[in-house]
Amino acid sequence: MTEKSFQTKSVRVGHEPTNEQEHSASIFLTSSFRFSSAEEAADRFENSGKGNMYSRFTNPTVDAFQNKLAALEGAEKCQATASGMAAIFATIMTILKPGEHMVASRCMFGTTIVLLNNIIEKFGIKVTFVDLPDLKSWESSVQKNTKLFLLETPSNPLGEVVDIKKLAAISKMNNIVLAVDNCIMSPALQKPLSLGADLVIHSATKYIDGQGRCLAGAVAGNGSIIDDISLFSRSTGPTLSPFNAWIVLKGLETLNLRMRAHCESAMTLASWLERQTFVEKVHYVGLNRHPHHEVASKQQSGFGGIVSFQVKGGRKEAFRLINNTKMISITANLGDTKTTITHPSSTTHVRLSDEEKKQTHITENLIRISVGLEDVDDIIADLRP
Ligand SMILES: Cc1ncc(COP(=O)(O)O)c(C=O)c1O
Repeated sequence: MTEKSFQTKSVRVGHEPTNEQEHSASIFLTSSFRFSSAEEAADRFENSGKGNMYSRFTNPTVDAFQNKLAALEGAEKCQATASGMAAIFATIMTILKPGEHMVASRCMFGTTIVLLNNIIEKFGIKVTFVDLPDLKSWESSVQKNTKLFLLETPSNPLGEVVDIKKLAAISKMNNIVLAVDNCIMSPALQKPLSLGADLVIHSATKYIDGQGRCLAGAVAGNGSIIDDISLFSRSTGPTLSPFNAWIVLKGLETLNLRMRAHCESAMTLASWLERQTFVEKVHYVGLNRHPHHEVASKQQSGFGGIVSFQVKGGRKEAFRLINNTKMISITANLGDTKTTITHPSSTTHVRLSDEEKKQTHITENLIRISVGLEDVDDIIADLRP
């Protein structure tokens, strides 16, 4: 199927019916699989025989999700994981050895920063942080032993963007793996692999499920790297459960339609916020005056559902606005059908030091909204002071 049929692929690819000819993918809730003989078991375990053995290795429901996501991202292979953080950790641990070095964007999800600051260093891996859009900093941070570039674009919560094609040219020249966390866009709005990235990482907990039901993650891209990530995951354990795989598999069927609706409402909300006297600044890359609007327009087919804004005042005024809402959910998740509101400085990014918050512009008056699928007029009404 061609790129034009993304919507068709999202509905049709991935699941092969069993002999029962089920129309909707069934859930294989089984820990292990039987063999018809000791010889067959021995053959499978030697890895020469094809087929399932144990659900930490492979499972048909998980395979269906992996196949569909790989098709949508244009990836050779995909490894599903128990969460987005498991996908990020598996990627780093597969690519880097003690004594090696990686470069990461400063503007990333708070737990990713915690992982890099507090856990990765324990394995003897050094991390240099750079400003996401600053290509010169990425280039000048490269050392002889640099193996990985890791970033989110657009970043959560401020929607900063880097030119993926230009960054991929730098990573390729230096033999560095470029991994893009595509959680905020999803493959419906951005395909980093087609722009030169080697790996795409997902928190499928977000838009891929899209209904706030379960945790899931995935890494997709270059086949031989994914084989290594699969070996890491099946040997250390953070693989995806078949039940959660089924949820995110079904989520992918409606991803494209949902993302278009999220984008439309987010644009309406961002434009409305810009006109409000209680608002100091709106951060939405879909707005013409956003500094990264041009690059985003080139590499994204939509601007996504995350709108952040600074209220006039500080934490007190931000909390007052959040507490005034009646319908919108005060919760740190994003990518749900339900609109959610959060104060990044005291929730998702609370573990960042004051200096890190300053560098990443996580101010006390900043609020993040993940625009859901309710009528946008009702979302706006709920935010009116
Ligand atoms: C951009 C991004 N990456 C990764 C994660 C981590 O995903 P999970 O919560 O599924 O582990 C999140 C969670 O919010 C996120 O926003």
